[in-house]
Amino acid sequence: MKLRTAAIAAGVASLPAFAAQAAELNLICSADVVICEKLVSEFGNSHPDISVNMVRMSSGETYARVRAEARNPQTDLWWGGTGDPHLQAAAEELTAVYESPMLPELHDWAVKQAEISGNRTVGVYSGALGWGYNTQIFESKGLKEPACWSDLLDPGLKGEIQIADPNSSGTAYTTLATLVQLMGEDEAFEYLKQLNANVAQYTKSGSAPVKSAARGEAGLGIVFLHDAVSQSVEGFPIKPMTPCEGTGYEVGSMSIIEGAPNPDEAKIFYDWVLTADVQNLMPEAGSFQLPSNKAAVASEHVPDLGEIKLIDYDFAEYGGAERRRELLARWDAEVGGRATE
Ligand code: F6P
Repeated sequence: MKLRTAAIAAGVASLPAFAAQAAELNLICSADVVICEKLVSEFGNSHPDISVNMVRMSSGETYARVRAEARNPQTDLWWGGTGDPHLQAAAEELTAVYESPMLPELHDWAVKQAEISGNRTVGVYSGALGWGYNTQIFESKGLKEPACWSDLLDPGLKGEIQIADPNSSGTAYTTLATLVQLMGEDEAFEYLKQLNANVAQYTKSGSAPVKSAARGEAGLGIVFLHDAVSQSVEGFPIKPMTPCEGTGYEVGSMSIIEGAPNPDEAKIFYDWVLTADVQNLMPEAGSFQLPSNKAAVASEHVPDLGEIKLIDYDFAEYGGAERRRELLARWDAEVGGRATE
Protein backbone atom coordinates (compact mmCIF):
# COMPACT_ATOMS: atom_id res chain seq x y z
CA MET A 1 0.00 0.00 0.00
CA LYS A 2 2.74 2.45 0.98
CA LEU A 3 4.61 1.54 -2.18
CA ARG A 4 1.60 2.31 -4.35
CA THR A 5 1.00 5.69 -2.73
CA ALA A 6 4.64 6.64 -3.16
CA ALA A 7 4.63 5.49 -6.76
CA ILE A 8 1.52 7.49 -7.61
CA ALA A 9 3.03 10.61 -6.01
CA ALA A 10 6.18 10.15 -8.09
CA GLY A 11 4.14 10.07 -11.30
CA VAL A 12 2.88 7.11 -13.30
CA ALA A 13 5.48 7.57 -16.05
CA SER A 14 8.30 6.86 -13.63
CA LEU A 15 6.70 3.70 -12.11
CA PRO A 16 9.22 0.90 -11.78
CA ALA A 17 7.83 -2.41 -13.05
CA PHE A 18 7.44 -3.96 -9.57
CA ALA A 19 5.49 -0.97 -8.25
CA ALA A 20 2.54 -1.83 -10.52
CA GLN A 21 1.78 -4.91 -8.42
CA ALA A 22 -1.51 -4.72 -6.54
CA ALA A 23 -1.49 -5.06 -2.78
CA GLU A 24 -2.31 -8.61 -1.75
CA LEU A 25 -4.14 -10.48 0.95
CA ASN A 26 -3.74 -14.21 1.51
CA LEU A 27 -6.91 -15.45 3.09
CA ILE A 28 -7.88 -18.85 4.42
CA CYS A 29 -11.64 -19.15 4.71
CA SER A 30 -13.01 -21.93 6.92
CA ALA A 31 -16.74 -21.46 6.35
CA ASP A 32 -18.82 -22.63 3.41
CA VAL A 33 -17.18 -21.94 0.07
CA VAL A 34 -20.18 -19.94 -1.21
CA ILE A 35 -19.89 -17.30 1.54
CA CYS A 36 -16.09 -17.36 1.18
CA GLU A 37 -16.39 -16.50 -2.52
CA LYS A 38 -19.07 -13.88 -1.88
CA LEU A 39 -16.90 -12.09 0.68
CA VAL A 40 -13.93 -12.07 -1.68
CA SER A 41 -15.99 -10.66 -4.53
CA GLU A 42 -17.67 -7.97 -2.36
CA PHE A 43 -14.32 -7.00 -0.87
CA GLY A 44 -12.92 -6.73 -4.40
CA ASN A 45 -15.74 -4.30 -5.32
CA SER A 46 -15.07 -2.05 -2.34
CA HIS A 47 -11.26 -2.43 -2.27
CA PRO A 48 -10.17 -2.85 -5.90
CA ASP A 49 -6.57 -2.02 -4.95
CA ILE A 50 -6.18 -5.22 -2.89
CA SER A 51 -6.21 -8.57 -4.62
CA VAL A 52 -7.30 -11.48 -2.44
CA ASN A 53 -5.93 -15.00 -2.79
CA MET A 54 -8.42 -17.21 -0.99
CA VAL A 55 -8.40 -20.91 -0.20
CA ARG A 56 -11.17 -22.77 1.61
CA MET A 57 -10.00 -25.17 4.29
CA SER A 58 -11.73 -26.75 7.28
CA SER A 59 -10.99 -25.34 10.72
CA GLY A 60 -8.68 -28.10 11.99
CA GLU A 61 -6.85 -28.27 8.67
CA THR A 62 -6.26 -24.51 8.82
CA TYR A 63 -4.92 -24.73 12.35
CA ALA A 64 -2.49 -27.43 11.16
CA ARG A 65 -1.48 -25.24 8.19
CA VAL A 66 -0.93 -22.18 10.40
CA ARG A 67 1.25 -24.26 12.74
CA ALA A 68 3.21 -25.67 9.82
CA GLU A 69 3.80 -22.16 8.45
CA ALA A 70 4.82 -20.72 11.82
CA ARG A 71 8.44 -20.07 10.86
CA ASN A 72 7.58 -18.58 7.50
CA PRO A 73 3.93 -17.48 7.41
CA GLN A 74 2.31 -17.33 3.98
CA THR A 75 -1.19 -16.63 5.26
CA ASP A 76 -2.39 -13.19 6.38
CA LEU A 77 -5.89 -13.75 7.64
CA TRP A 78 -8.03 -16.68 8.75
CA TRP A 79 -11.74 -15.92 8.51
CA GLY A 80 -14.43 -18.24 9.82
CA GLY A 81 -14.33 -21.75 11.12
CA THR A 82 -15.10 -22.78 14.68
CA GLY A 83 -13.57 -20.69 17.45
CA ASP A 84 -11.75 -23.50 19.27
CA PRO A 85 -8.84 -23.86 16.84
CA HIS A 86 -8.56 -20.07 16.61
CA LEU A 87 -8.15 -20.04 20.40
CA GLN A 88 -5.66 -22.90 20.21
CA ALA A 89 -3.63 -20.96 17.65
CA ALA A 90 -3.89 -17.84 19.83
CA ALA A 91 -2.61 -19.70 22.89
CA GLU A 92 0.44 -20.72 20.85
CA GLU A 93 0.89 -17.09 19.70
CA LEU A 94 0.46 -18.16 16.09
CA THR A 95 -2.04 -15.36 15.64
CA ALA A 96 -1.41 -11.65 16.07
CA VAL A 97 -2.75 -9.22 18.65
CA TYR A 98 -5.17 -6.79 17.02
CA GLU A 99 -7.74 -4.67 18.81
CA SER A 100 -10.18 -3.72 16.09
CA PRO A 101 -12.06 -0.41 16.32
CA MET A 102 -15.11 -2.54 15.47
CA LEU A 103 -15.11 -4.36 18.84
CA PRO A 104 -17.71 -2.02 20.46
CA GLU A 105 -20.16 -2.94 17.68
CA LEU A 106 -20.04 -6.66 18.50
CA HIS A 107 -22.11 -8.92 20.74
CA ASP A 108 -20.53 -9.92 24.07
CA TRP A 109 -20.06 -13.53 22.94
CA ALA A 110 -17.92 -12.31 20.03
CA VAL A 111 -15.88 -9.92 22.18
CA LYS A 112 -15.32 -12.72 24.71
CA GLN A 113 -13.23 -14.59 22.13
CA ALA A 114 -11.01 -11.50 21.95
CA GLU A 115 -10.87 -11.21 25.73
CA ILE A 116 -9.89 -14.82 26.39
CA SER A 117 -7.24 -14.74 23.68
CA GLY A 118 -5.65 -11.37 24.53
CA ASN A 119 -7.10 -9.93 21.29
CA ARG A 120 -5.59 -12.63 19.08
CA THR A 121 -9.01 -13.66 17.70
CA VAL A 122 -12.60 -12.38 17.60
CA GLY A 123 -16.07 -13.84 17.03
CA VAL A 124 -17.67 -13.38 13.63
CA TYR A 125 -20.78 -15.56 13.95
CA SER A 126 -22.39 -18.19 16.13
CA GLY A 127 -24.48 -21.31 15.62
CA ALA A 128 -25.66 -24.40 17.49
CA LEU A 129 -24.78 -27.99 16.79
CA GLY A 130 -27.43 -30.46 15.69
CA TRP A 131 -28.19 -32.55 12.66
CA GLY A 132 -30.27 -32.70 9.54
CA TYR A 133 -32.05 -35.86 8.46
CA ASN A 134 -33.54 -36.82 5.12
CA THR A 135 -37.27 -37.17 5.80
CA GLN A 136 -37.85 -39.24 2.63
CA ILE A 137 -35.21 -41.81 3.54
CA PHE A 138 -36.46 -42.04 7.13
CA GLU A 139 -40.04 -42.44 5.96
CA SER A 140 -39.24 -45.05 3.33
CA LYS A 141 -37.23 -47.09 5.83
CA GLY A 142 -39.78 -46.70 8.61
CA LEU A 143 -37.25 -45.00 10.92
CA LYS A 144 -38.43 -42.84 13.80
CA GLU A 145 -37.55 -39.17 14.01
CA PRO A 146 -34.11 -38.82 15.65
CA ALA A 147 -34.77 -36.32 18.44
CA CYS A 148 -31.98 -37.12 20.91
CA TRP A 149 -28.30 -38.07 20.86
CA SER A 150 -29.40 -41.48 22.17
CA ASP A 151 -31.65 -42.00 19.12
CA LEU A 152 -28.59 -41.93 16.86
CA LEU A 153 -27.50 -45.28 18.34
CA ASP A 154 -30.59 -47.05 16.93
CA PRO A 155 -29.27 -50.12 15.02
CA GLY A 156 -31.77 -49.25 12.27
CA LEU A 157 -29.48 -46.30 11.43
CA LYS A 158 -26.53 -48.54 10.55
CA GLY A 159 -24.71 -46.97 7.60
CA GLU A 160 -27.07 -43.96 7.54
CA ILE A 161 -25.02 -41.40 9.52
CA GLN A 162 -22.23 -39.15 8.36
CA ILE A 163 -20.13 -36.85 10.51
CA ALA A 164 -16.77 -35.22 9.87
CA ASP A 165 -13.39 -36.19 11.28
CA PRO A 166 -12.59 -33.97 14.30
CA ASN A 167 -8.94 -33.74 13.25
CA SER A 168 -9.84 -31.78 10.13
CA SER A 169 -13.25 -30.35 10.98
CA GLY A 170 -14.20 -27.79 13.59
CA THR A 171 -17.80 -29.03 13.46
CA ALA A 172 -16.74 -32.53 14.45
CA TYR A 173 -14.34 -31.24 17.13
CA THR A 174 -17.25 -29.20 18.54
CA THR A 175 -19.31 -32.42 18.56
CA LEU A 176 -16.59 -34.29 20.42
CA ALA A 177 -16.14 -31.51 22.97
CA THR A 178 -19.92 -31.14 23.36
CA LEU A 179 -20.41 -34.84 24.10
CA VAL A 180 -17.56 -34.80 26.62
CA GLN A 181 -19.16 -31.82 28.38
CA LEU A 182 -22.65 -33.34 28.26
CA MET A 183 -21.83 -36.91 29.28
CA GLY A 184 -18.36 -36.95 30.86
CA GLU A 185 -15.27 -38.03 28.92
CA ASP A 186 -15.39 -41.83 29.31
CA GLU A 187 -19.12 -41.95 28.62
CA ALA A 188 -18.70 -39.71 25.56
CA PHE A 189 -16.08 -42.04 24.09
CA GLU A 190 -18.29 -45.03 24.84
CA TYR A 191 -21.11 -43.23 23.00
CA LEU A 192 -18.86 -42.37 20.04
CA LYS A 193 -17.68 -45.98 19.76
CA GLN A 194 -21.30 -47.14 19.62
CA LEU A 195 -22.18 -44.38 17.16
CA ASN A 196 -19.30 -45.54 14.97
CA ALA A 197 -21.34 -48.66 14.15
CA ASN A 198 -23.88 -46.42 12.40
CA VAL A 199 -21.40 -44.05 10.73
CA ALA A 200 -20.93 -44.72 7.02
CA GLN A 201 -18.29 -42.07 6.49
CA TYR A 202 -16.14 -39.52 8.33
CA THR A 203 -15.77 -36.55 5.99
CA LYS A 204 -13.08 -33.88 5.95
CA SER A 205 -15.43 -30.89 5.89
CA GLY A 206 -18.00 -30.32 8.63
CA SER A 207 -21.00 -29.51 6.45
CA ALA A 208 -20.42 -32.32 3.89
CA PRO A 209 -22.54 -34.86 5.85
CA VAL A 210 -25.78 -32.93 5.51
CA LYS A 211 -25.05 -32.17 1.86
CA SER A 212 -24.79 -35.95 1.34
CA ALA A 213 -28.04 -36.44 3.23
CA ALA A 214 -29.69 -33.81 1.00
CA ARG A 215 -28.61 -35.78 -2.10
CA GLY A 216 -29.93 -39.01 -0.58
CA GLU A 217 -26.46 -40.50 -0.07
CA ALA A 218 -26.95 -40.68 3.70
CA GLY A 219 -29.91 -40.59 6.05
CA LEU A 220 -28.53 -38.06 8.52
CA GLY A 221 -25.62 -35.65 8.88
CA ILE A 222 -24.39 -34.40 12.26
CA VAL A 223 -23.62 -30.75 11.51
CA PHE A 224 -24.27 -27.22 12.69
CA LEU A 225 -27.97 -26.54 12.57
CA HIS A 226 -27.52 -23.64 10.14
CA ASP A 227 -25.90 -26.02 7.63
CA ALA A 228 -28.98 -28.26 7.82
CA VAL A 229 -31.20 -25.18 7.43
CA SER A 230 -29.30 -24.18 4.26
CA GLN A 231 -30.21 -27.49 2.67
CA SER A 232 -33.89 -27.26 3.60
CA VAL A 233 -34.04 -23.64 2.38
CA GLU A 234 -32.63 -24.90 -0.93
CA GLY A 235 -35.57 -27.25 -1.15
CA PHE A 236 -33.99 -30.56 -0.14
CA PRO A 237 -36.00 -32.91 2.13
CA ILE A 238 -33.83 -32.15 5.14
CA LYS A 239 -35.28 -31.56 8.59
CA PRO A 240 -32.95 -29.68 10.98
CA MET A 241 -33.00 -30.94 14.59
CA THR A 242 -31.30 -30.17 17.88
CA PRO A 243 -30.83 -32.97 20.41
CA CYS A 244 -33.21 -33.25 23.38
CA GLU A 245 -30.37 -33.74 25.88
CA GLY A 246 -28.79 -30.41 24.97
CA THR A 247 -26.09 -29.34 22.57
CA GLY A 248 -22.99 -27.24 22.06
CA TYR A 249 -22.39 -24.29 19.81
CA GLU A 250 -19.63 -22.49 17.99
CA VAL A 251 -18.39 -18.94 18.02
CA GLY A 252 -17.00 -18.83 14.49
CA SER A 253 -13.91 -16.66 14.63
CA MET A 254 -11.31 -14.65 12.72
CA SER A 255 -7.59 -14.14 13.36
CA ILE A 256 -4.66 -12.32 11.78
CA ILE A 257 -1.61 -14.55 11.48
CA GLU A 258 1.45 -13.58 13.52
CA GLY A 259 4.19 -12.46 11.11
CA ALA A 260 1.68 -12.16 8.23
CA PRO A 261 3.30 -10.86 5.05
CA ASN A 262 0.47 -8.33 4.53
CA PRO A 263 -0.70 -7.21 7.99
CA ASP A 264 -2.13 -3.85 6.83
CA GLU A 265 -4.35 -5.50 4.23
CA ALA A 266 -5.37 -8.10 6.81
CA LYS A 267 -6.54 -5.35 9.18
CA ILE A 268 -8.49 -3.64 6.38
CA PHE A 269 -10.38 -6.88 5.61
CA TYR A 270 -10.81 -7.62 9.34
CA ASP A 271 -12.52 -4.30 10.09
CA TRP A 272 -14.58 -4.45 6.88
CA VAL A 273 -15.90 -7.96 7.47
CA LEU A 274 -17.07 -7.06 10.99
CA THR A 275 -19.42 -4.33 9.72
CA ALA A 276 -23.18 -4.90 9.83
CA ASP A 277 -23.48 -4.25 6.08
CA VAL A 278 -21.08 -7.05 5.23
CA GLN A 279 -22.55 -9.48 7.76
CA ASN A 280 -25.99 -8.78 6.28
CA LEU A 281 -24.76 -10.41 3.05
CA MET A 282 -24.40 -13.84 4.66
CA PRO A 283 -27.97 -15.09 4.05
CA GLU A 284 -27.56 -14.24 0.34
CA ALA A 285 -24.88 -16.92 0.29
CA GLY A 286 -27.08 -19.42 2.14
CA SER A 287 -25.16 -18.87 5.41
CA PHE A 288 -27.54 -18.73 8.34
CA GLN A 289 -25.25 -18.28 11.33
CA LEU A 290 -26.04 -15.57 13.88
CA PRO A 291 -23.96 -12.50 12.93
CA SER A 292 -21.64 -10.95 15.53
CA ASN A 293 -22.35 -7.28 14.75
CA LYS A 294 -25.19 -6.09 17.00
CA ALA A 295 -26.65 -3.99 14.16
CA ALA A 296 -26.70 -6.85 11.62
CA VAL A 297 -30.16 -8.18 10.86
CA ALA A 298 -30.44 -11.93 11.34
CA SER A 299 -32.36 -13.59 8.50
CA GLU A 300 -35.66 -15.32 9.33
CA HIS A 301 -33.84 -18.62 8.66
CA VAL A 302 -31.22 -18.09 11.38
CA PRO A 303 -32.02 -20.60 14.14
CA ASP A 304 -33.08 -18.89 17.37
CA LEU A 305 -30.40 -19.89 19.89
CA GLY A 306 -32.75 -18.83 22.71
CA GLU A 307 -35.04 -21.75 21.82
CA ILE A 308 -32.29 -24.37 21.86
CA LYS A 309 -31.14 -26.27 24.94
CA LEU A 310 -27.52 -25.14 24.91
CA ILE A 311 -24.78 -26.36 27.22
CA ASP A 312 -22.49 -23.81 28.84
CA TYR A 313 -19.70 -24.64 26.38
CA ASP A 314 -16.32 -24.07 28.00
CA PHE A 315 -14.35 -22.33 25.24
CA ALA A 316 -11.38 -21.66 27.49
CA GLU A 317 -10.93 -25.37 28.25
CA TYR A 318 -11.89 -26.93 24.89
CA GLY A 319 -10.11 -24.15 23.01
CA GLY A 320 -6.91 -25.17 24.82
CA ALA A 321 -4.16 -26.66 22.63
CA GLU A 322 -3.33 -29.43 25.11
CA ARG A 323 -6.98 -30.45 25.58
CA ARG A 324 -7.39 -30.61 21.80
CA ARG A 325 -4.35 -32.88 21.44
CA GLU A 326 -5.60 -35.21 24.21
CA LEU A 327 -9.12 -35.51 22.84
CA LEU A 328 -8.02 -36.04 19.25
CA ALA A 329 -5.41 -38.63 20.25
CA ARG A 330 -8.09 -40.53 22.15
CA TRP A 331 -10.52 -40.24 19.23
CA ASP A 332 -7.87 -41.57 16.83
CA ALA A 333 -7.08 -44.47 19.14
CA GLU A 334 -10.61 -45.45 20.15
CA VAL A 335 -12.93 -44.32 17.36
CA GLY A 336 -10.77 -43.73 14.30
CA GLY A 337 -12.02 -43.48 10.76
CA ARG A 338 -10.53 -41.88 7.72
CA ALA A 339 -11.68 -38.55 6.29
CA THR A 340 -12.80 -38.98 2.72
CA GLU A 341 -14.04 -35.66 1.39
O1 F6P B 1 -20.48 -24.22 6.72
C1 F6P B 1 -20.33 -23.27 7.65
C2 F6P B 1 -19.72 -23.81 8.91
O2 F6P B 1 -20.57 -24.74 9.53
C3 F6P B 1 -19.38 -22.73 9.87
O3 F6P B 1 -20.46 -22.26 10.61
C4 F6P B 1 -18.30 -23.36 10.68
O4 F6P B 1 -17.52 -22.41 11.36
C5 F6P B 1 -17.53 -24.11 9.64
O5 F6P B 1 -18.47 -24.45 8.63
C6 F6P B 1 -16.86 -25.32 10.15
O6 F6P B 1 -16.35 -26.06 9.10
P1 F6P B 1 -15.46 -27.33 9.36
O7 F6P B 1 -16.23 -28.25 10.24
O8 F6P B 1 -15.27 -27.92 7.98
O9 F6P B 1 -14.20 -26.90 9.99
